[in-house]
Amino acid sequence: MSRLKIAAGNWKMNKTYDEGVDLAKSLVAHTNPNGSNLIILGVPYIHLKTVSEVIAAAPHIKLAAQNCHEKANGAYTGEISALMLTSVGAEYVILGHSERRQYFREDNFKLEKKVKTAIENGLKPIYCCGESLEIRDKNRHHSHVATQIKEGLFYLSKEDFAKVVIAYEPIWAIGTGQTATPEQAQDMHYHIREQIADYYDNKTADATSILYGGSVKPANAKELFAKRDVDGGLVGGASLKSDDFAAIYNAF
Ligand code: PGA
Repeated sequence: MSRLKIAAGNWKMNKTYDEGVDLAKSLVAHTNPNGSNLIILGVPYIHLKTVSEVIAAAPHIKLAAQNCHEKANGAYTGEISALMLTSVGAEYVILGHSERRQYFREDNFKLEKKVKTAIENGLKPIYCCGESLEIRDKNRHHSHVATQIKEGLFYLSKEDFAKVVIAYEPIWAIGTGQTATPEQAQDMHYHIREQIADYYDNKTADATSILYGGSVKPANAKELFAKRDVDGGLVGGASLKSDDFAAIYNAF
């Protein structure tokens, strides 16, 4: 399979300026290019410019923002546009993280607009989906995730969809220490790939990187990444320590 394997870090609202520079420098020093496998650093806005300079000599490390506004520009005090992000070296943008959905009321329809604006401005979306424990307990997790994907992404042309990375992050596993089992992850990733094959085609589905997120650690990364449809991870807590995140990347 030719799809990219990705260890993506999501620093969330962590790291002062100096701490962020140190972490990025340490990752450059302690990881090496490994085939076409990628590290993507999802950093707060203030870090983008400097981290892009720090990773410039490391072709296996790419840069992501954690959000962008759905409008191209204008009177939206405090917001950041997709074009601003590309202008400081971001190549990816995390969209639809469950924390954005929960605390900032981002729904699939807002995300549809954000995805479109991001792609129009040269950013590749890392589109997050995932169910709450309540939804899983009612056995509605497959249809819930299918709807998130359909409404957020399935209007894109095949060419634009090829720029999207999907991250499946069950909400009950985020920051809880309770990781989905490799079988639970594989089951949902397979289901997501099936949706893509149904809407686009098998070739497109095969080429899409689908990451698992939710308490990924050095101790469980290898087992998760060994699953056929798990193409890497979106990592929160363990991406804040250079050693841990390097070990997760090296689990490929
Ligand atoms: P976690 O966060 O690894 O700390 O569970 C994952 C995420 O929210 O992306």
